[in-house]
Amino acid sequence: METKTKAIAIDGPAGAGKSSLAKALAKKLDFIYVDTGALYRAIGLAFSKRGFDTSLNCDIADELKNINVDIRFIDGVQHVFLGETDVSEEIRTPVASMMASAVSAKGEVRAKLLDMQRDFAKKYNCIMDGRDIGTVVLPDADLKIFLTASDEERAMRRYKELKEKGDTSTFEEVLSDMRQRDYNDSHRAIAPLKPAEDAVIADTTGKNVEESLVMLLDIIKENIK
Ligand code: DC
Repeated sequence: METKTKAIAIDGPAGAGKSSLAKALAKKLDFIYVDTGALYRAIGLAFSKRGFDTSLNCDIADELKNINVDIRFIDGVQHVFLGETDVSEEIRTPVASMMASAVSAKGEVRAKLLDMQRDFAKKYNCIMDGRDIGTVVLPDADLKIFLTASDEERAMRRYKELKEKGDTSTFEEVLSDMRQRDYNDSHRAIAPLKPAEDAVIADTTGKNVEESLVMLLDIIKENIK
């Protein structure tokens, strides 16, 4: 008989700590970590390279036919590829963030990525983070966590990350971009960002990574036997 894999879905707005916490949890549990935002970012980057801005004035389905996005695990770490080019770094710029938010509102883009995401969960025990993992991608996940934090704190975390990479955006710009992206992500018609009905809400405001990790491990212990 086929053994069923385990899946933990982590959704929430940008900067709530999803990726660092999911990565750390995956290591502790020996699951793979799938960062689905990277897929939307890669597609956003591809549209940007094709000369489009966030208004995406084009035939989306037609453009998508020539965009090959893929996830590969190298030494257990996820890398995202456009064709044969590893774009894992290039997708982390503010422009790629806004483009990701724009393409992610398009049904054609979401449909293209759905099976790829589900296939990972079929094959591996995984922790998958995104915006619609608990509501759409893996509605039968063993555990759904909705991770959140105040918008000022989320923006401050993202601001520090960008600054470390040499980005010159101000805190106000990062906060305003983040609010715009939160608004787009939670108000789009298809698969908007919202907690699944059976999600556990976890708030990381005022908690550092270690404290948040303890909170999540407790939630996992309580919910996955
Ligand atoms: O998590 P992130 O910031 O890397 O995500 C980039 C964008 O992709 C974000 O604006 C929302 C979108 N996204 C989505 O719509 N669905 C997902 N499962 C993951 C990300």
